[in-house]
Amino acid sequence: MIRSGLRRRSLLRAGLGAGAATAGAGTMASAQPDPGAGRGHARVKLGCAVQRRYLDEAEYRAAITSHFDMVVTEDALKWERLRPNPRDFDFADSDVIVNFARSAGLAIRGHALVYHGQVPAWLDKVDNRRDAEDDMRRAIATTVGRYRGVIGSWDVVNEFTDDRPEVGSGLRPTVWERLIGPDYIAIALREAAAADPAAQLVLSDYFLEYRGRHYDDRRSVMLRVVRDLVRRGVPLHAVGMQGHLYGDRVVDGPAVSRFVAELKSLGLDVVVTELDIVDQAYPADPDIRDRLAAQQAFELLDAVTEGGGAHSILAWGVTDRYSWTSWHMRRQDGLPTRPLALDAAYRPKPLMRVLQHFRRRTVPPILPERGTRP
Ligand code: G3I
Repeated sequence: MIRSGLRRRSLLRAGLGAGAATAGAGTMASAQPDPGAGRGHARVKLGCAVQRRYLDEAEYRAAITSHFDMVVTEDALKWERLRPNPRDFDFADSDVIVNFARSAGLAIRGHALVYHGQVPAWLDKVDNRRDAEDDMRRAIATTVGRYRGVIGSWDVVNEFTDDRPEVGSGLRPTVWERLIGPDYIAIALREAAAADPAAQLVLSDYFLEYRGRHYDDRRSVMLRVVRDLVRRGVPLHAVGMQGHLYGDRVVDGPAVSRFVAELKSLGLDVVVTELDIVDQAYPADPDIRDRLAAQQAFELLDAVTEGGGAHSILAWGVTDRYSWTSWHMRRQDGLPTRPLALDAAYRPKPLMRVLQHFRRRTVPPILPERGTRP
């Protein structure tokens, strides 16, 4: 599936140099014919993570609707926000995002049904298998059920690979892994499929993009887990590569292409679920930084395309004005981070041109018996 020895096209050869970066998305979208039209190929969707608190700003809403096809709930469905106590669910934030997306005609992804990050303190008190499983099932059934037919794609389990992937099963010892065992992933997928049989179910993780032993090990854990799930007929439709790109790490193009091709051969799609650039290691000059960021994203998306392509690409935010990196990944020189495709004044950066380039592409259908979802 992959042509060996293929030389990666450079950003400039692909016509995506910084000089062209200021064109609006609208002018780029219709520039090329759709090579897959009529052959079951699907256009790659481009999305962005959205925070409820910024949706009150007209500029933020306009940026989403003018550049993207899809939104993903960034923090609204995390249990810290969703589950104030073991019984109740608070969908106030996610409802606002979902209603906005529906009225704007955008597709929606839900993030994340089972995720150890940003969980409420009461979860620590769950101490036996039965309660852990009952609670996880109820949370999935309630959340997916509420948005059945509306949220078309879910991160069902997020970040299940351990930070020491070479040890044991390679699974992170979350509360669910410890109390339910490794099968919690299959149980979660089945529960989500029962709640919405038409939804795209995704397992997503980080650090699947780079060169080096550690990252090879992480890809191996993901492949081992999904091969087993597919063999057992567990409902699973795609693997998410988060795509948080760190400036001090090197994207392993050939390994990414092989990984994507292997997933496709299992009948799975690929989604780039959380693309952004962590630019701490990049130079201060904003133009140089933006060019390096675009180059790194191009390398990842080109490698994914070479392996068979992504169903959709989600940026982890809308604008540099609002990003988790400005809280969690600050630069030593104190300059604002520039992780996204629109700058803090909502002007498109070179990264936007890269994203729109891959949005224009199509992906071939995956194995007919599993079928692509939304
Ligand atoms: O914006 C508020 C600010 O108004 C407030 O004064 C300040 C005080 O704490 O908080 C700011 O919000 C922070 C927010 O990041 C900014 O985007 C929250 O405290 C902080 O908890 C939040 O972090 C979230 C992070 O996960 C937690 O690890 C980010 O929103 C969110 O984008 C990020 O997303 C994760 C994915 O879910 C999973 N993959 C990795 C990714 C990045 O860590």
